[in-house]
Amino acid sequence: MKKPWWMSAVAYQIYPRSFMDSNGDGIGDIRGIIEKLDHLQELGIDVVWISPLYKSPMDDCGYDISDYYAIDPLFGSNEDMYELIDEAKKRGIKIIMDLVINHCSDEHEWFQKALADPDSEEAGYFIFRESKDGPPNNWRSMFGGSVWENVGGDRYYMHCFGKKQPDLNWENPKLREKLYEMIRWWLDRGIAGFRVDAIIHIKKDQDFASRPADGPDGMCGLQGWARNTPGIDEFLAEMRDKAFAGYDADCMTVAEAPGVPEDKLHNYVGDNGYFSMLFDFTYSEINFWGRGWECARPMEDIPVTELRDSIFKHMSEATRTGWTAVYLENHDYSRSVNKYLPTGDQRDYHGATMLATLFMNLRGTPFIYQGQEIGSTNINFNSIDEVNDISTHNNWKNWTEAGLPLEQKMAGLQYSRDQNRIPMQWNGGVNAGFTTGKAWLPINPNHTEINVEAQRNDPNSILSYYKRLVKARKESAVAEALSFGEFVPALLEDGDIIAYKRVGEESQALVINNYLKAEHKVTLPCGVKSVVVSNYDDVAVDGNVLTLKPYQAVVFEI
Ligand code: NOJ
Ligand code: CA
Repeated sequence: MKKPWWMSAVAYQIYPRSFMDSNGDGIGDIRGIIEKLDHLQELGIDVVWISPLYKSPMDDCGYDISDYYAIDPLFGSNEDMYELIDEAKKRGIKIIMDLVINHCSDEHEWFQKALADPDSEEAGYFIFRESKDGPPNNWRSMFGGSVWENVGGDRYYMHCFGKKQPDLNWENPKLREKLYEMIRWWLDRGIAGFRVDAIIHIKKDQDFASRPADGPDGMCGLQGWARNTPGIDEFLAEMRDKAFAGYDADCMTVAEAPGVPEDKLHNYVGDNGYFSMLFDFTYSEINFWGRGWECARPMEDIPVTELRDSIFKHMSEATRTGWTAVYLENHDYSRSVNKYLPTGDQRDYHGATMLATLFMNLRGTPFIYQGQEIGSTNINFNSIDEVNDISTHNNWKNWTEAGLPLEQKMAGLQYSRDQNRIPMQWNGGVNAGFTTGKAWLPINPNHTEINVEAQRNDPNSILSYYKRLVKARKESAVAEALSFGEFVPALLEDGDIIAYKRVGEESQALVINNYLKAEHKVTLPCGVKSVVVSNYDDVAVDGNVLTLKPYQAVVFEI
């Protein structure tokens, strides 16, 4: 097996608007990231994915790019970015950027030219259609409403996300070359790769025909015709060969790619796959499956076996086909302690560290999202006005139109993507140490207790526990197994725990997580040699019986 650097790496995601503000305008920036690099180094991070920093009108907080080559002044300058790459390198940390190439911003000069002149070269970079009576088809955008926006007369353009995010026309070879050129330009600036946004949308079924409605709005979702559409492979293979090839040894690419058909996964992340690894959504959307935020399930309504099976399903697919990325959180969800722990246990140290143990030892490159390492929790949003996120506002509008009672709308609001975009909690002081100005989103009042400063030197903090987990992947007796080993489910007969083995060539580990907030006995499936990490000092093994404490997690060397 080839072992590129990113297989044994631990990654960290920064949402730049909310990480650290260096100039008091209330919005995080690149100099703020530089100030906090030591925190990442102490945590043991090898590579950082930073959500988009490019020039943007910020309709979707930077996922709407108006200049791919320029850093947005809100975040700093290109020089600041190059300095960040250098400063990170000094600390052994690589940087990967977000690559948003399914769409750009309607303020990108390409789109402006396309609007001004339907015969321009740039008009061919987008998806324009003529239609006399309303939108050209009934496809529903990811943020709700039609994918089509009228630009006067019969002319419409397509957008899979917000209307300020026109989709790029990947059928156009000139456009594709422009994108590959830009990708290589950034790689030449010393970044180590990309997280590749919404890439499963780049291929559209060229019939652009309406499909059977799947909701009361008369519209249909995109899966099959503008999401994981047959024919996408040609584009992805070409991008691999023309944009990423030549940077092979160093280039890490993480595709945001939910719903790739199982028999295709190998093409994506197997040998010579299009990407190094991918983000799958099966377990991360377990609370939403088939429902909107307004009907989300709290963990007490989700059987542990259901969560376990969805994680294991992805593990077995990934094991069969290649490599993957594993994560508890990102900037599109609410906090993991809210999602994966029953209501009331969000501040439970053992609950949070059990979740950390469960995820950090799966087979794949783990991504820690900013704030997760200190056990950050959701905030209570009191009103839609406290929220910035475009998709939350769209949801709110749809709920209102559908006549949902306020109580249910408020419940849905708590799943806003802004839960994970509120500022990072650095200390217990003013604005959690994030800014000297007025933060762009509310500060969680619990920053007085949950913050980096308070946890940094406390050996019993969540932060210290994360450091131990990261270290276990790198320096413990089972480091090789935890980084590269095969994933083997264990103790499947016990529906209250999630357990698995990692079987390496040089070492083997057994990871056991008690999902019960109660003592629980299990019969060990094999002999154990030593405890590598546990979230309790005491691990009670008696013969082949292990008595787990509430939410106890243990990594054994076996
Ligand atoms: C996925 C990103 O993670 C999300 O934040 C964004 O809104 C959409 N893609 C559109 O770019
Ligand atoms: Ca700032």
